[in-house]
Amino acid sequence: MMKRLLKHSLKLLLGLVMVVMFAACQPTPTANSQSPAPASPDVSVAYPARALSASPAQLPPLPYGYDALSKAIDAETMRLHHDQHHAAYVKNLNEALKDQPQVQNRSVEALLRDLNSVPESIRMKVRNNAGGHLNHTIFWQIMSPDGGGQPTGAIAQEINQTFGSFENFQKQFNVAGGDRFGSGWVWLVRNGQGQLQITTTPNQDNPISEGNFPIMGNDVWEHAYYLKYRNRRAEYLSNWWNVVNWAEVDRRAKVRLGTASS
Ligand SMILES: [Fe+2]
Repeated sequence: MMKRLLKHSLKLLLGLVMVVMFAACQPTPTANSQSPAPASPDVSVAYPARALSASPAQLPPLPYGYDALSKAIDAETMRLHHDQHHAAYVKNLNEALKDQPQVQNRSVEALLRDLNSVPESIRMKVRNNAGGHLNHTIFWQIMSPDGGGQPTGAIAQEINQTFGSFENFQKQFNVAGGDRFGSGWVWLVRNGQGQLQITTTPNQDNPISEGNFPIMGNDVWEHAYYLKYRNRRAEYLSNWWNVVNWAEVDRRAKVRLGTASS
């Protein structure tokens, strides 16, 4: 009788322990926040569901004609920008990695997230050219001949919540792009806390090297605007909003931890 009671008590105790252990393994509920979770560190950045190949790196075709963005960017600039500048980053990245089997299995994103692990002899070349390849691959996609106007989707609301209004956001983005000394990029990123933030990067650096996810970015290198706008970067920044592809920007803004392919 005592033995049966003891056995029964042990079973109860074991059951209790398992319930406690199960509860302890569940995610802790957090307070409702207006800021979505930050993007997963290994989430794809160039495309919705695949990383950008570095070995070999390939020049993606423009998703529209050279003259399709003429509301903001002339055809000759587009031709040179894509066929010469972007192509050169791709060529230089392939050259940098050709004799480096230890990094050839890594994507562009993986290389840029951990530049310190890239051999020092090619680190700067990888930083500049993997960055240039990724930045321009994103850039072509976040513009469209049907772009411009007001933001659409959830990003519209999030911009209003973060910056007060779309107009304030545009103003801050344009000022940041104008203030970027020399060559570089101005970005809307999702930072490590999951919040929207305007940042700039020098040269061809991409925000992922600083732990930020690039939602949209404008190229403020002179090669992006000089033929049409000469030294009037502010005018280029202002006109550029006429070609922003808000559907793609909204998709990128929804990239979240655990939903890399969304
Ligand atoms: Fe560029």
